Amino acid sequence: MAAEAVAVAVAVVVCAAALVGTSMAGDPFAYFDWDVSYITASPLGVPQQVIAINKQFPGPVMNVTTNWNVVVNVLNSLDEPLLITWDGIQQRKNCWQDGVLGTNCPIPSGWNWTYQYQVKDQIGSFFYFPSLGLQRAAGGYGGITVNNRDVIAVPFGTPDGDFTLFIGDWYTKNHTDLRKMLDDGKDLGMPNGVLMNGKGPYRYNDSLVPAGIDYETINVEPGKTYRFRVHNVGVSTSLNFRIQDHNLLLVETEGSYTNQQNYSNLDIHVGQSYSFLVTMDQNASSDYYIVASPRFVNESLWTRVTGVAILHYSNSEGKASGPLPDPPNDFYDKTWSMNQARSIRMNVTTGAARPNPQGSFKYGSINVTQVYVLKNEPPVIIDGKRRTTLNGISYSPPDTPLRLADLYDEKGVYTLDFPTRPTDAPPSIGASVINGTYKGFMEIIFQNNDTTVQTYHMDGYAFFVVGMDYGEWTENSRGTYNKWDGVSRSTTQVFPGAWTAVLVSLDNVGIWDVRTENLDDWYLGQEVYVKVADPEGYNKTEMLAPDNVLYCGLLKDKQKAQKPHGTMSSSTDLRRGKIFTLMLLFVALIFAP
Ligand SMILES: *[C@@H]1O[C@H](CO)[C@@H](O)[C@H](O)[C@H]1NC(C)=O
Ligand SMILES: *[C@@H]1O[C@H](CO)[C@@H](O)[C@H](O)[C@H]1NC(C)=O
Ligand SMILES: *[C@@H]1O[C@H](CO)[C@@H](O)[C@H](O)[C@H]1NC(C)=O
Ligand SMILES: *[C@@H]1O[C@H](CO)[C@@H](O)[C@H](O)[C@H]1NC(C)=O
Ligand SMILES: *[C@@H]1O[C@H](CO)[C@@H](O)[C@H](O)[C@H]1NC(C)=O
Ligand SMILES: *[C@@H]1O[C@H](CO)[C@@H](O)[C@H](O)[C@H]1NC(C)=O
Ligand SMILES: *[C@@H]1O[C@H](CO)[C@@H](O)[C@H](O)[C@H]1NC(C)=O
Ligand SMILES: *[C@@H]1O[C@H](CO)[C@@H](O)[C@H](O)[C@H]1NC(C)=O
Ligand SMILES: *[C@@H]1O[C@H](CO)[C@@H](O)[C@H](O)[C@H]1NC(C)=O
Ligand SMILES: *[C@@H]1O[C@H](CO)[C@@H](O)[C@H](O)[C@H]1NC(C)=O
Ligand SMILES: *[C@@H]1O[C@H](CO)[C@@H](O)[C@H](O)[C@H]1NC(C)=O
Ligand SMILES: *[C@@H]1O[C@H](CO)[C@@H](O)[C@H](O)[C@H]1NC(C)=O
Repeated sequence: MAAEAVAVAVAVVVCAAALVGTSMAGDPFAYFDWDVSYITASPLGVPQQVIAINKQFPGPVMNVTTNWNVVVNVLNSLDEPLLITWDGIQQRKNCWQDGVLGTNCPIPSGWNWTYQYQVKDQIGSFFYFPSLGLQRAAGGYGGITVNNRDVIAVPFGTPDGDFTLFIGDWYTKNHTDLRKMLDDGKDLGMPNGVLMNGKGPYRYNDSLVPAGIDYETINVEPGKTYRFRVHNVGVSTSLNFRIQDHNLLLVETEGSYTNQQNYSNLDIHVGQSYSFLVTMDQNASSDYYIVASPRFVNESLWTRVTGVAILHYSNSEGKASGPLPDPPNDFYDKTWSMNQARSIRMNVTTGAARPNPQGSFKYGSINVTQVYVLKNEPPVIIDGKRRTTLNGISYSPPDTPLRLADLYDEKGVYTLDFPTRPTDAPPSIGASVINGTYKGFMEIIFQNNDTTVQTYHMDGYAFFVVGMDYGEWTENSRGTYNKWDGVSRSTTQVFPGAWTAVLVSLDNVGIWDVRTENLDDWYLGQEVYVKVADPEGYNKTEMLAPDNVLYCGLLKDKQKAQKPHGTMSSSTDLRRGKIFTLMLLFVALIFAP
């Protein structure tokens, strides 16, 4: 199947839609046709099944602009159910498209399902991935770049190029074997390596990296400045990212422009996304290493778990050689990484998706209406199973999505009684949901009682990261909050034995997932949904359930069987038909009397 055909189809539809858009005052549409299937790849030299999109691993970058409508037809060619979620895309009033089990029935194997949503009032660097049962450990991820509209100034000059870089730990065991390990109560143990853009490390050391591994090369021109969008899409390892002899000018994180600062390296935790501007200001006496090395582990045991790609100037005089640039030397200094995280601030004077400054929403002067302290603990045994918890509750997704259960008034699927604080109750497994008040202002304190870094993510929202520190959070900790330029993002790290506080304005109706991005702990239950119901009822503020909504669980009888899908090429033909119709319509409009 010709990938070009799809690319051409997408391009044409975007053009046609853009024209229709400008002439009809609607927002443009971008169409994507994805076949999600296994391919065999050997990123670390061991052949394994990885999840690819249109045979690509990583998947294609969705390059769209604020307010575009995105239509993604996903064909599930895996042998198990699938959902794709769009990390950081807010799905305003439309949790029906969020692609997690609380809002969507999984797409059965062999079926297709079409997501449709608007990328409303957002800019920045995000990514998508398969959200079910550790599938991300097998790939299936790709970038989402949301460009600014032309009328809005960007706080830096147009870069000479744009690179998306996925970094992440990787196991040579496949996701079904990893799942089995967790089900059997085992730890996943040390990963086998770190991939960069789906590829293994450059052979910087013959004894550590076997011969014949394909590595990533970034080709650049001397003197130019490029934007690097770096996403940690791994399972559970925090990574230190650095480019030998080059400064990383941090400019954006998950949809907020940051105060621009140079870093020689930055810790990027699982699920986090950052944009850097990097100027090619070195003499190219050789190529340069791009490194992602594991953090807070015994590095003499984890030497093989290091991602290495190559930065190649067009005038480079030779291959990169010698030792990798040093990681931060802070093994016994817990504060270094936290201070680096605290140094990431929002640029309050620049506009982002809208022309008004990012700082015009003065979060520091809004009264908090709801407070939740969410505390994790090291894994515990509940009903004979090894599970992880938040406030003693281990989330287990019901067969009926929460939002769908509400729509059809099915009671008993979940309870709306998630405790606001950790309790003394014995740990339990269930589906307990946070009752969020629409238009309220919520403070969430994530307290990490485990021994590894966690990253917590909230769907449907960006939150302000206002504070983090070691020890137990208390009311007095509020005195240390940054009430002015805390960065607004969707994923924050919480250091072991420490807390992180976030503030979030509950202005988006729906039922939204709050979870750890660390796949093993997520799989074992560190997740909770926040229900933000419209007090006026369904069909007022929130969007209606889409016509193609899938049914399952208690509602499975409503589901019509899907006809066996055609091949990819026939669906492209269909798409072409649509474009043709669109163009005819457009021509008809122009020539209409
Ligand atoms: C994963 O590997 C096991 C063997 O270790 C194999 O039985 C299974 O089919 C594989 N699953 C996938 C999806 O490749
Ligand atoms: C992404 O879209 C923007 C705006 O439409 C365009 O300028 C840019 O060249 C595109 N980038 C890629 C890699 O296609
Ligand atoms: C499946 O794909 C076909 C062809 O692209 C499309 O017409 C149909 O609407 C899709 N079905 C769903 C449920 O999204
Ligand atoms: C390669 O790595 C090994 C193990 O860490 C180390 O002992 C050796 O010095 C390294 N070789 C070079 C050339 O750096
Ligand atoms: C960042 O470093 C570059 C050199 O790599 C320098 O030209 C630039 O002025 C620095 N910017 C800031 C904001 O420190
Ligand atoms: C913040 O944004 C403004 C407006 O675009 C820009 O002039 C300024 O340099 C930025 N400040 C920092 C510290 O990045
Ligand atoms: C190039 O720069 C490196 C340091 O970044 C320096 O060691 C080397 O001598 C320089 N080479 C030339 C030819 O200037
Ligand atoms: C790291 O592991 C090595 C090898 O097992 C051990 O000798 C060393 O003490 C460990 N270092 C730390 C800081 O735990
Ligand atoms: C916040 O609450 C205080 C009293 O607790 C009240 O005086 C103030 O007006 C409130 N501010 C807003 C913006 O509602
Ligand atoms: C949930 O909160 C709303 C106010 O936002 C309240 O009206 C409702 O009674 C609460 N439900 C439960 C079960 O506590
Ligand atoms: C976990 O919580 C217990 C009880 O509050 C406390 O004694 C312990 O220090 C905490 N451990 C970490 C790593 O936070
Ligand atoms: C939603 O509202 C529209 C317009 O008021 C109405 O036509 C439609 O039947 C409503 N749908 C549902 C599911 O209530």
